[in-house]
Amino acid sequence: MKLPIHHYYPEASRLILGCMNLGGPWNTPTIEGKDIDQAFDLVTKALDIGINVIDLADIYTHGKAEKTMGELFKRERSLRNHLILQSKVGIKLTPAFDTCHYDLSGDWITEAVNTSIKRLHDNTLDILFLHRPDPLMQLDETANALMKLHEQGKFEYLAVSNMHAGQIAFLQSAIQVPIVANQLEMSLACCDFVEDAITVNMPINANNGFPRGTLEYCQQAGVQLQAWGSMAQGLFSGESASNNKNVIATTALVKKFAQQYGVEPNAIVLAWLMRHPANIQPVLGTTNTERLTSAQKALTIQLSREHWYSLLESIRGKKVP
Ligand SMILES: NC(=O)c1ccc[n+]([C@@H]2O[C@H](COP(=O)([O-])OP(=O)(O)OC[C@H]3O[C@@H](n4cnc5c(N)ncnc54)[C@H](OP(=O)(O)O)[C@@H]3O)[C@@H](O)[C@H]2O)c1
Repeated sequence: MKLPIHHYYPEASRLILGCMNLGGPWNTPTIEGKDIDQAFDLVTKALDIGINVIDLADIYTHGKAEKTMGELFKRERSLRNHLILQSKVGIKLTPAFDTCHYDLSGDWITEAVNTSIKRLHDNTLDILFLHRPDPLMQLDETANALMKLHEQGKFEYLAVSNMHAGQIAFLQSAIQVPIVANQLEMSLACCDFVEDAITVNMPINANNGFPRGTLEYCQQAGVQLQAWGSMAQGLFSGESASNNKNVIATTALVKKFAQQYGVEPNAIVLAWLMRHPANIQPVLGTTNTERLTSAQKALTIQLSREHWYSLLESIRGKKVP
């Protein structure tokens, strides 16, 4: 069995700073000084509270998120040495959003990785993610390109996102660099990863969106699970405008537990995810340093089994079968 990401990076934090919203709005072409200041505040706060993994992608704010981080490193070179930097390639997205499709061809991966590294003013990515599966991927060609980039020192470890067990095993069969992580949407709002486990042998399981067996495969193969959307985009912890009765009830329960455990609601949402024994690393998409700090408190609590199940039953709107 391969060892988990913490073996490759023993210093990696459990929480990850997600940087999808760095670099200003998606619809402006350039970054501004205030975007770099924002990144500085977030990254230094993250390091202060023990978060040292940074999650990026080439497409975030159309390249401006990586660019902002690169400008930050130019300003404060020493920061880079304290961070584990992961970025993703494999989605082709034009600024006008008129093209959005996947591309894991060797040519595109090579171009995208080189562009990301240039934007980051760096020599290498610690972990290179393939952002989404590309049905047109030719395994050998993709594997060759990745191996060449690896030999050139452009990335240290490989990872995937939004892939199921079979897709990961297929890629790994042709690539000698270990696939060390899989990033999927998992949260109290997107809890099909739990439904998959509890509705086995029931017709309702046919409608489950989570790729069956992926959680188990990743743990067995030493592929670290990372959760995007882990704060449920603030659904249960902000001023949600939802009129869904399960969301309303769950928001109230999150609030009650927050008071009981002495943390902010965000921390309860994360603690629910982290109570799962798969040792999931939540990727936090907040751009707010106060929210980052309050979210980090999730590490200081452990939800009881009863509270964990009551949150699950509240969001699913019925008892477990
Ligand atoms: N692999 C993939 O396909 C994929 C897809 C999407 C995202 N990601 C990664 O995962 C990270 C997180 O994903 P995400 O941003 O979709 O989800 P998230 O972390 O669940 O949500 C972050 C968003 O929710 C808001 N929020 C959180 N708590 C709040 C509260 N209490 N009140 C009000 N607003 C609140 C944040 O606003 P503030 O900024 O104001 O706090 C931010 O806009 C991204 O940054 C990115 O790195 C990966």
